[in-house]
Order: sequence, then structure tokens, then C-alpha cells
Amino acid sequence: MIAPLRVGIAGLGTVGAEVVRLGRMLSERTGRGIRVVAVTARSKGRKRGLDLDGIAWAKDPLALASNPEVDCFVELMGGAGDPALSAIDAALKSGKSVVTANKALIAKHGLKLAKAAEKHGGALNFEAAVGAAIPIVKTLREGLAGTGINRVYGILNGTCNYILTRMEQEGLSFEECLKDAQRLGYAEADPSFDVDGHDTAQKLAILASLAFGTAVAQNAVYVEGISSIAPEDLRAADDLGYRVKLLGVALRTPKGIEQRVHPTMVPKSSSIAQVMGVTNAVTIDGEGIPPITLVGPGAGGGATASAVVADIADVARGLRTAPFGRPVETLRPTEKAPMERHEGGYYIRLMARDHAGTAATIATRLAEQKISLESIVQRHPNGGEVAKSAGKGTPVPVILITYATNEDAMYKALQAVQRDKVISGKPQVIRIEKN
Ligand SMILES: NC(=O)c1ccc[n+]([C@@H]2O[C@H](COP(=O)([O-])OP(=O)(O)OC[C@H]3O[C@@H](n4cnc5c(N)ncnc54)[C@H](OP(=O)(O)O)[C@@H]3O)[C@@H](O)[C@H]2O)c1
Repeated sequence: MIAPLRVGIAGLGTVGAEVVRLGRMLSERTGRGIRVVAVTARSKGRKRGLDLDGIAWAKDPLALASNPEVDCFVELMGGAGDPALSAIDAALKSGKSVVTANKALIAKHGLKLAKAAEKHGGALNFEAAVGAAIPIVKTLREGLAGTGINRVYGILNGTCNYILTRMEQEGLSFEECLKDAQRLGYAEADPSFDVDGHDTAQKLAILASLAFGTAVAQNAVYVEGISSIAPEDLRAADDLGYRVKLLGVALRTPKGIEQRVHPTMVPKSSSIAQVMGVTNAVTIDGEGIPPITLVGPGAGGGATASAVVADIADVARGLRTAPFGRPVETLRPTEKAPMERHEGGYYIRLMARDHAGTAATIATRLAEQKISLESIVQRHPNGGEVAKSAGKGTPVPVILITYATNEDAMYKALQAVQRDKVISGKPQVIRIEKN
């Protein structure tokens, strides 16, 4: 009879409290007893609605991580630094296994922690750090271990997808939808980490490492948020057969690995375009197999705890997988593909001055950079079809969709158009991702 796995949990908030509740059912699934023996949080006195009878209270996370009565240290406090970092480090160095949901920490210190896990023989499991209940880490690390991966991309932030969905379906502004998201608890009081794309970037860096066997490198991710997206962009996308999503995309290219987070137009017929509201989704393009898309809840106490508990179950079963799928010394440095060399189609919305020759000037500047247009639509600001003359010199929205070109050429053409003074204001540019 194997001794029960003794679990210590640091952090009893949204996720930690659910893990304590779920942990009680685990023994049946793994065939081994699992007992939460000790916990800690910032405030011992806080009412949590949890039955902590018979569970020790550790004085701090480091004490819990160093407790010889704990076999598996579960970190659910969050934060890219201490106390999470030093507690996990201490637990791994004493040979314990660690489970965490902390994407910030794994994106920043994952490599160092993976080395410690490898050296001392413990597991370092972080399924909940990306996509909460969606088993994307296991899928890349284990399920697709035999498949070369060319691209992994997805909707990794429910707040942004909720905002874009409401904007599209109800014609509302970004600001209105953000306020609603805050009222409903989908967005933080300071929403910048989500809406500026940084949360997605941390998750993408982890996925890219798992997909391509490279060292996790958060600073290699190009990041743009969704605050510049206007309802007219979503209307135009709809007319043209697209939806706008905040995507994280990691792509193998001959120039290195592109890791980018930005608003993206995706064909309405694609799997990723069907994902609405707070739901998350990840698509994997593997060699020789059609794309695989996983869809599910990417946040919330229950959904995140589901992945944490599954990671604890692996520890109980004695499974040890290299944290990033292969030995740390074989992870290659990330060769960052520069964004100027990104190739793809573009949506461009310009406010063109209503002068004779404006269209010809724009066409010439694009042609100079060898950019071909798939479509060009001139619309009345109120959404009518083709603009009649709105008055001499009055700016009229013009929407261009380019065929694949590179980013450098596209921006050179737009700078030339701005110098020609045939448009007013800054062009809106949204990259297109085809499936
Ligand atoms: N919530 C989600 O939907 C979600 C989804 C995916 C991943 N995650 C990740 O899961 C982790 C936990 O998130 P959460 O939403 O559960 O956070 P939370 O509700 O804010 O809970 C954090 C917990 O950590 C404790 N804590 C914070 N600092 C501490 C310290 N210095 N010493 C001891 N305890 C400390 C807090 O104690 P008190 O209760 O006493 O304040 C609280 O119990 C984070 O890494 C987060 O990124 C969360």
C-alpha cells in the first residue's frame, strides 16, 4: 500500500479554495490517498467558507514549502516574484513536486525552476497557467510529443474576448464594454494587464516553448492590445467575412519564431472565430495532421482548480514529465523573428480626403511596395455602401484588404500615403490570420 500523497497549499483565494474542496475526491481517481495536510495564506483569520479541520496552518509560504511532512507543494498565490518564487524554488530543491497556476512566474522564471525540478527529481506541473481547464499544456507536452508543430494560436484572455464579442454583437464602444466587464467581474479595476495583451503574452510564451522546444522567452513576444479597436472595424470585418479576436500566435518561420499578440481578423468560418464571450480556445497546426482546436473556460475558480487537481493527480500517480516536455539543456534559445518581416494580409482603415486623385495616390504608394489589394471599400461614415461625394475635402472612410505582404512594406506604403496628405489621422491596421 503506497503512503498517501501529502499536499501543502499556499494561497486560498479564488483558485486555492476550490482546490481544497476538489482535493477531497481525488483519491478515488488515482487509487492513492491524497491528503491536504497544511495550508497558508496572507490572513489566517479570513472567513473562507472552507473546512480546514485537521489541516495545519503554516506561518508562511516558505515554511510550508520546506515542511518535511509535505510531498507536493501547491502554489496558488500568484505574482512573478517572492514569496511564490522562493517558495517554489525551496520546495523543488528539497525534492518535492510542485503544482502552480502562476503564468507570470512560469513565463519569467520557468527555465530556472525547470532546471531545479530536473536536478532534484520533483515534478513541476503548471497546466492551469494557460487556459485554466483547457488541457493545452498536456496536449503540447505529452499528447503531441510525436508531432512537429508549425503554429499554435489562440484566444487566451476571456476579458478581451468578452469585450470584442459585445462590441461586435451590440455595436458598442470599447470603453462601454470594458465598464460592463468590470461590473460583471470579468475585468480587474486596473484592466491594462488584460486589455493591453500582457496576460496573453505570458501564456503565449509558455505555449511557444512547449510547441517548439525553445527556452521560454516572454521578452520575445510582440504585444498590442485591443483598446484601439472601434465598432466600425468590427462592422467592416463582418461585411468582409471576418471577426476580430485578440490572438496570441506562435509561428515557426524560416527567419525564426514569431511570437505575437495583437487584434487579428480571422475568417468567420474558422473554429477560432466561433469562440465568443469569456471562453478561450487554442488551435495547434501539427505536421501531417489537420488543425486541432481545444475550446473551454480559461478562468474562474472551478475551471482553474480542475487543472490544478489534475496536476496533483499526476504527482500522486508518480508521473514525472520534463516541465517543458524535454530536458532543459536541450531547449534551444528562442530565435526571435522580427515583426517587420512578418508576412500576411492586412486590413487597413484610412480616412481619405475626398479629392480627385486620392484613390490613385493610395494605389500608387501600395504598388511601389508591391502590395496587391484583395478588396477596397469606400463607405459613408454612417455605414452606407459606396460614398457619394461627402463634400470637397471631407474625409471618407476607406477600407483596404491586402493580399499577403510583409509588415515593413505595408508601413512604408502607409507612411508615404501620410506624407502625400491624402488621408487624415493615423491609419488603423489589423493583421489577418488565415487558417
Ligand atoms: N482566478 C483565475 O481565474 C485564475 C485562472 C488561471 C490562473 N490563475 C492563477 O492562479 C493563481 C491564484 O489566483 P487567484 O485568482 O486564486 O488569486 P486570489 O484570489 O487573489 O488569491 C490569492 C491567495 O494567495 C494568498 N496570498 C497572496 N499573497 C500572499 C503572501 N505573500 N503570503 C501568503 N499568501 C498569500 C492570498 O491570501 P489572503 O486570502 O489571506 O489574502 C489568497 O488566499 C495566480 O497565479 C493566478 O494567475 C487564476
